[in-house]
Amino acid sequence: MQVESTTTATPSSPAQSSPEAAADQLEQEVARRRTFAIISHPDAGKTTLTEKLLMYGGAIHLAGAVKARRAQRHVTSDWMELERKRGISVTSSVMQFEYAGCKVNLLDTPGHQDFSEDTYRTLVAADSAVMLLDNRKGVEERTRQLFEVCKRRRVPIFTFVNKCDRAGEKPLKLLSDVESDLGIACYPVTWPIVGENGFIGVYDRMHGAVELFERAQDHGASRARARAIHLKDPELRNLLEATVYDRLVSEIELLDAASHAFDLDAVLRGDLSPMYFGSALTNFGVEAFFHDFLEFAPAPRPRESTAGLISPTDPSFTGFVFKIQANMDPKHRDRIAFVRICSGRFDAGMRVMHVRTASQIRLSSPQQFLARDRTAVEEAWPGDVIGIMDRGTLRIGDSLSTAGPLEFSDIPRFPPEHFARIIPSDPLKRKQLDTGLRELTEEGAAQVFYADTAAGPTPIVGAIGMLQFDVMQYRLDHEYGAPCRFEPLSYQHPRWVTGPKAAVELEARKSGHLRLYDTKGNPVLLFDSERSMRWAEERDSGLKFHEVAP
Ligand code: G4P
Repeated sequence: MQVESTTTATPSSPAQSSPEAAADQLEQEVARRRTFAIISHPDAGKTTLTEKLLMYGGAIHLAGAVKARRAQRHVTSDWMELERKRGISVTSSVMQFEYAGCKVNLLDTPGHQDFSEDTYRTLVAADSAVMLLDNRKGVEERTRQLFEVCKRRRVPIFTFVNKCDRAGEKPLKLLSDVESDLGIACYPVTWPIVGENGFIGVYDRMHGAVELFERAQDHGASRARARAIHLKDPELRNLLEATVYDRLVSEIELLDAASHAFDLDAVLRGDLSPMYFGSALTNFGVEAFFHDFLEFAPAPRPRESTAGLISPTDPSFTGFVFKIQANMDPKHRDRIAFVRICSGRFDAGMRVMHVRTASQIRLSSPQQFLARDRTAVEEAWPGDVIGIMDRGTLRIGDSLSTAGPLEFSDIPRFPPEHFARIIPSDPLKRKQLDTGLRELTEEGAAQVFYADTAAGPTPIVGAIGMLQFDVMQYRLDHEYGAPCRFEPLSYQHPRWVTGPKAAVELEARKSGHLRLYDTKGNPVLLFDSERSMRWAEERDSGLKFHEVAP
């Protein structure tokens, strides 16, 4: 990407068609976009479901028995060697594929809660979410946190109860647990049918049809086949054991009488969650779910900006950066800014306003991703995510626009909860360390501060989760050639402080307080306990305390 000096707006490269035809095309492309993320507690089966959706979308082929799954799945969604070693998913990727006439953008998020911030930001780029539950565990801690983030933004949430191929909680209990625990109404669209041999099919309440699965011998490497039969078809009694049939009929009667009615508007407002039962491992119920999901989930909708609501079909291009990733390709040491397009058509090489710096930039060599594979993008549409090669101009939360200086403002920011002093193993590598710290903190995973010491400014890193430190330490060593040690500090509560300089000085000298500076030179106080932080905030010291940088 090149940054240009001019500050006057110039029109983007025009489409080669009449304005009417361009508007029609924009409308059609918007209507077929589905941009979503899967939210779940680790181990619920997100990786497995992601693979299956990619398989249905023809984006990957799972050949034969998928035995080396753990090794394989890193090939499709993770980048870093560290991730492979630890078996955790650290970075988020974006996967685009076609399915049933839709262009699907699946935003992958890190599974581990130490990377929550990255996940929260990715959810801002999504238009809907699939909440994946383990049928034995129901709602778990991490699901709850991510659900809350979606609910606050009124993102439509679809529930998929996974692992139904093995015994779990009773479906009625799962249904009532989700409703009471998360405070959202659910509409079970499919209902599991469990026979003597386990999970044998689902009843689809929308179509009144029973789907009986046929077991494949390839451990889920191909699509599940099913036989469909109407609930009222007398043959169904011959196909199901009597007790299974009777239980199904009585459960369906109960659901019809007691559960909420299906209301698509309520789904789109985030008040009602369509619920599905299935097994990502055997593929049972996955395809039926995905079809419905693509039908009911919203296409990109208008987004709030500082200039009011921006409709995706507005011909002006707008978008925002929700993620920065340095060194995605270790061979090229590049820095990629992930931009979610909010409106208008994107053409490679177009010039847009970088709103924060009020300058014009050219978005050249944009890329789309399928895990490690990248392809050059010539055009993209609202809902799509493009990767822009960047040399350090773009930051998380930045807006890009051909519609004047508007900003999309709802990128969440969080104060760090853990701090560590960085001790370089090789003092001669200080320059590499500074570059690494700058680039890695620009990704938004951690923040860098400096403490005054007799030896000069010492870098201190703050992060939401401790695992971030391991990732940073590894990357500083492997990507920047700056080996170092991270020495955790006992301070956990940061506040940015504004007010008279003398009062800041006085406060900083109190015991249990550590004074740092952020990269812009703003003073930040670290407190050793929540109590001392509250005490400082409530005292009349003439200072103002802020949770994030003011
Ligand atoms: P995650 O990304 O949410 O952490 O979950 P992942 O897909 O890695 O799945 C976690 C474990 O649950 C894996 O088993 C996976 O095979 C299993 N699993 C996923 N979906 C289903 C399902 O529908 N039914 C059943 N029975 N199991 C499922 P693992 O033993 O940890 O790994 P692996 O050796 O199978 O790779």
